[in-house]
Amino acid sequence: MAILSIPEKGVQISDPNQIRTFFNERGIFFDQWSCDVVFDDQATQEEILAAYEKDLKPFMENGGYETADVISINSLTDNYDAIRAKFLAEHIHTEDEIRFFVDGQGLFWFNLETEPVFNLLCQRGDLISVPAGSKHWFDAGESNPFVKAIRIFIDMSGWVPHYTESGVEQKFKDFRITAL
Ligand SMILES: [Fe+2]
Repeated sequence: MAILSIPEKGVQISDPNQIRTFFNERGIFFDQWSCDVVFDDQATQEEILAAYEKDLKPFMENGGYETADVISINSLTDNYDAIRAKFLAEHIHTEDEIRFFVDGQGLFWFNLETEPVFNLLCQRGDLISVPAGSKHWFDAGESNPFVKAIRIFIDMSGWVPHYTESGVEQKFKDFRITAL
């Protein structure tokens, strides 16, 4: 279940409908999908994509998306620090960055510039689409990362990060979600 935070305002929202409205008002797609399958560590990409097909298929068809895959990051991931660093600095992409969280969690930060920076903790069942050109960054945590997520693309080459070099993420590096 997602949690929306606006650190500079001390705001934290966990109600899915409020979160959906907040993002929709800003042209950012947020949704929640569910499935009855419980995956073990050995679940294949095909099994995971098949389990979510009823939501995934229409979403991809409506959006003109071509490919979907599943990424896993955990404490055994090689070069995690380098992977983390790559997406921890503010950047944009030339296409939407769409992630559906099958398991684990990660924090997407948004800098729309017209309002205070906000972030969304994405967890199992949460789908977020970061619009092309939106300034953002992502963190799966300094230690014990765990992300299992479906990625959805039109063209995977659009996912290359273009860094803004603003350094704005540094202002929020000590952010922690407090218990609701
Ligand atoms: Fe990104």
